[in-house]
Amino acid sequence: MSDSVTLFEMGPRDGLQNEKAQIATADKIRLTDLLSEAGFAKIEVTSFVSPKWVPQMADAAEVLAGITRRPGTSYAALTPNLRGFEAALAAKADEVAIFASASEGFSRANINCSIAESLERFAPVAEAARAAGVPMRGYVSCVTDCPYDGSVPPAEVARVARALVTLGCYEVSLGDTIGAATPETTQAMLAAVISEIPPDRLAGHFHDTGGRALDNIEVSLSHGLRVFDSAIAGLGGCPYAPGARGNVATEAVVARLSGLGYETGLDIAALDRAAEFARSLRSAE
Ligand code: HMG
Ligand code: MG
Repeated sequence: MSDSVTLFEMGPRDGLQNEKAQIATADKIRLTDLLSEAGFAKIEVTSFVSPKWVPQMADAAEVLAGITRRPGTSYAALTPNLRGFEAALAAKADEVAIFASASEGFSRANINCSIAESLERFAPVAEAARAAGVPMRGYVSCVTDCPYDGSVPPAEVARVARALVTLGCYEVSLGDTIGAATPETTQAMLAAVISEIPPDRLAGHFHDTGGRALDNIEVSLSHGLRVFDSAIAGLGGCPYAPGARGNVATEAVVARLSGLGYETGLDIAALDRAAEFARSLRSAE
C-alpha cells in the first residue's frame, strides 16, 4: 500500500471560520500564500456561505482573488447551495465541496435543513459542477458523535457518504466535527463506510477536542485511507458545534506520519513559517 499521504490543509477555512474577531482579508491571503509555499496539493481557502451565518467568510471572493496560485495546488471552497457554487465558480475556485451531516440535529443547526433536504439541495450544485468541469468533494459531519443527538450510528454515516458519491463527489471526507471520536468508534464507523465506498475515495477529518485525532488517523491509515484534513497550528472550530476545538494540527500530523514512515512532500521550514503566522491570527481564548 502507498506510503505517501496527502494532507488537505483546512487552516484558512475551517481554521478561521470560527474566529470571533474579523480577520483582515490581507491576512487570510497571506496565510494561504504561506501554506502554498509549503507545497500543499490542496488548500481549502474559504466558504461561499451566508454571511449572516458565518460572517468571517464574507470576503470569500476577495480572498480567492488575492492569493498567489501555486501550480500544482488546488484551491477549494465550501458551497452549500447553487448560489454558493456560482460565486465560487466566478471566483475561480479549483474545486468545491458540499457538506452534509450524518445526524439530523447538526444538519439543522449547521445548514438549516434535514439531511434529506440537504441532499436535494446539493443535486443542482452537483449538476452545475459537472457541467463546469469543477471537481466536487463531499463532507459528512458528525461521523461518530453529534453535539445535539449524541452517538451516531455507523450505518447512517455510510448511507450519507454513499449519497454524496452518487451525487458525484470524487472523495468523501469523514468529519469528526466535535473531536469526540475514539479509535474504537472510528474503527466501527470506517468498517461500515468502507463496505460501501473504497478507502481511496475517503478522507479523514478529525478535530482534536478529545486529543485522539492522531490515534484516529492511525486507525484510518490501517483501513487504507491516505488523505487527511488538518489545519496549520490546529486552528479552528465550527460555529454550529459548540465547544468543538480546531482541526488536528498539520505539523503534528506531519510528525506522526513521518514517524510511521509516510511521506507528505511538505516543506517543514515553510510549514513552521505558516504555523507562526497562523498563531498570530488566533484571538486569545
Ligand atoms: P437559510 O437561512 O436556511 O437559507 O440558510 P436562505 O436561503 O433563506 O438564506 C439566508 C440568507 O443567506 C439570505 O439572505 C440568502 O440570500 C443568503 P437574506 O435574504 O436573509 O438577506 N444566502 C447566501 N449568501 C451568500 N452565499 C450563499 C448564500 N445562500 C443563502 N451561498 C444556508 C441556509 C446553507 C445558506 C446557511 O445555513 C449557511 O450558510 N450555512 C453555512 C454554515 C457553515 O458554513 N458552517 C461551517 C462549515 S461546515 C463545517 O465546518 C464542518 C466541516 O468542517 C466538516 C466537519 O468538521 O464535520 C466541513
Ligand atoms: Mg471541520
